[in-house]
Amino acid sequence: MTAFRSYPIIGAVLAQFAALALAVGLRLMLVDRLDPDMLVWLALAAQCLTAALVTKLLGLPVWWAWIGLLFPVALGLALNAGTLPAWPFGVAFVLLALVFSNTARERVPLYLTNRQTTEALAKLMQQRGARRFTDLGSGLGGVVRSLDGEGRRARGVESAPMVWLISLLLSKLQGRGLIERQDIWEAEIGEEDLVYAFLSPEPMPALYEKAKGAMKPASLLVSNSFPVPGVEADEIWELPDRRGTRLYLYEMKRDGGAG
Ligand SMILES: C[S@@+](CC[C@H](N)C(=O)[O-])C[C@H]1O[C@@H](n2cnc3c(N)ncnc32)[C@H](O)[C@@H]1O
Repeated sequence: MTAFRSYPIIGAVLAQFAALALAVGLRLMLVDRLDPDMLVWLALAAQCLTAALVTKLLGLPVWWAWIGLLFPVALGLALNAGTLPAWPFGVAFVLLALVFSNTARERVPLYLTNRQTTEALAKLMQQRGARRFTDLGSGLGGVVRSLDGEGRRARGVESAPMVWLISLLLSKLQGRGLIERQDIWEAEIGEEDLVYAFLSPEPMPALYEKAKGAMKPASLLVSNSFPVPGVEADEIWELPDRRGTRLYLYEMKRDGGAG
């Protein structure tokens, strides 16, 4: 399982092969009993669902299950592209770009903080008497909405257009949290007590430099899952959730540095 966590692509491929075996078996079993079109749809559904399920059972992060689910459909569409109209592909491309624009640019995909982690962040804020929270790359804004209120001000900074818009609407509807459409590298964080990031290994060195240069003494940079390379965290919180989330805590020091 650890190998699959380090190289999730192996688990994803295995899941597709396991699903393929099931789909082929199903087709062979039902070939004389079902209409050919119906059989194709049934095999496709079996392939998608089994691949997603096996991916989940292998303990891969949830977005791999989504990839497992959608990959066979995407492959089917690509193989039949010549017989289909072109516009749905264009629309799908634009939608994907609006949601996942940061995946290519920053190598940060969209995946969301779970409930246990949000609760741990709330506890951390309470322990430290923190009042101002910023989620850099706030996604759909779930953490921001959860932590806002009860004397705390929570802000999210997000640049992917569709993701920002959805999170802004949800925050307005619930009257919780402040969502800004901004690049994390432009965001003002000097007054924050706790800055949270759930990004990827790629931006961590630069993010740490930004935090060190801008954040006030005794404030905290908290990274979900991705440590800053070469810098020892002041604390590491290991959470009892299924994915074994680790929160890396870096406290800003009085001399304007950290670590
Ligand atoms: C892994 S998601 C985390 C979402 C949210 N923080 C959570 O934990 O639920 C990372 C988010 O960071 C956003 N992001 C990545 N690079 C960014 C940048 N340079 N400026 C603003 N947002 C960025 C992505 O669009 C994505 O929504």
